[in-house]
Amino acid sequence: MGKNASIEIIRNLGEKFEGKSSRLVKANGRLIELKKELSRKVRQRTKALSFLYRIERDISNKLKMEDVLKVIVEKMSSILNVKICSILLIDDKTGKLSIKCAKGLEQKILKDSELEVGDNISGWVVRHNKPILVKNIDKDARFVKRNGEKYYNESLMSVPLAIKDKVIGVINVNNKKSRRIFNQEDFRLLKQIAAQVAIVIENARLYRSLSNLYMRTITTLAATIDARDHYTRRHSEMVAKYAVAIAEAMKLPPERVELIRQASHLHDIGKIGVHDFILLKPDKLTDEEWEEVKLHSVKGAEILAPLVVFLNGVIDMVKQHHERYDGRGYPGYYRDEKIDIGARIMAVADAFDAMLSERPYRKAYSKKKAIEELRENSGTQFDPKVVETFLKVLNKGAGLIQNRYQ
Ligand SMILES: [Fe+2]
Ligand SMILES: [Fe+2]
Repeated sequence: MGKNASIEIIRNLGEKFEGKSSRLVKANGRLIELKKELSRKVRQRTKALSFLYRIERDISNKLKMEDVLKVIVEKMSSILNVKICSILLIDDKTGKLSIKCAKGLEQKILKDSELEVGDNISGWVVRHNKPILVKNIDKDARFVKRNGEKYYNESLMSVPLAIKDKVIGVINVNNKKSRRIFNQEDFRLLKQIAAQVAIVIENARLYRSLSNLYMRTITTLAATIDARDHYTRRHSEMVAKYAVAIAEAMKLPPERVELIRQASHLHDIGKIGVHDFILLKPDKLTDEEWEEVKLHSVKGAEILAPLVVFLNGVIDMVKQHHERYDGRGYPGYYRDEKIDIGARIMAVADAFDAMLSERPYRKAYSKKKAIEELRENSGTQFDPKVVETFLKVLNKGAGLIQNRYQ
């Protein structure tokens, strides 16, 4: 082989090697890019998953939509590290959008937040079912004129809440705490979260309407049980009326008052399991029959137990409504303050209505006599604070006692 031929071979080899090595460098660079991309996606997925996990954990015991939205807004603000976050939902009746929950907004903006679909930024996002990322609202020609909602400044993201093609509202976030503008990673994260949030909100809505339907059914059932007997007609309704008045006067939180109202309507539901010949017996009950009647509070709790998701808190009140403050009630598990406050209130309301109603073997007590009985049994059968409050309520509210047989 001549010298030139050898040089030619070496040059060819060199070129081939160079080509391979540059391809290798390129491939390596691509690999690093892919790794970065993957770790970004993993990071984002982890964030989105941990968000969902926390949301599901925190809303599992929330019945009200306001509470569900509050949790979502709190978690979103922290995961996206923003100062302002709001959720606007479309009202089914008016078709308009309004802020249902927000963080970082002034009260006056919240009050006056109603928008037509199509208006401003939120309305645009809802109408087009399209998420937007605006780096600077003052310089973005698409949206600057739409900034009628006033609270947007700096960089913002607005993402529709949609289930398939049905848009139910919009999530807005703006003003990162770091003062940086939102990037594509933030945008992707918010879009992922919004898809899940839409499902959570829709579920909460379905849950609420199901729970309303359920409450109506069960309250009707309870009223039917009262109506089995002329002497107990409207009993649960009256107990609910008294119990709510006492609970409000004791300044219990509104959610607790609502549970007490539900429990009062259902408190004697266990009588479904008591034989008619006992419930409708015109004479006094034998000891044995009385023992069967006593089971109704526990039976009631058993009947309602499968519905614990709807009636969390209510079931214990039903079970304890015949417990006595001195511990001599039934089923006899609790005494004094250990008895649920709702059950202590219902015990007074229940006894009062029972005294005011006729029985086959006795006339109805007068209001004066019933009050005397409550006073006499205060501290033994009844919680004294509840009796005291009820007497004050009766003094004030003349309309509270109506003729239940009308
Ligand atoms: Fe009862
Ligand atoms: Fe009762």
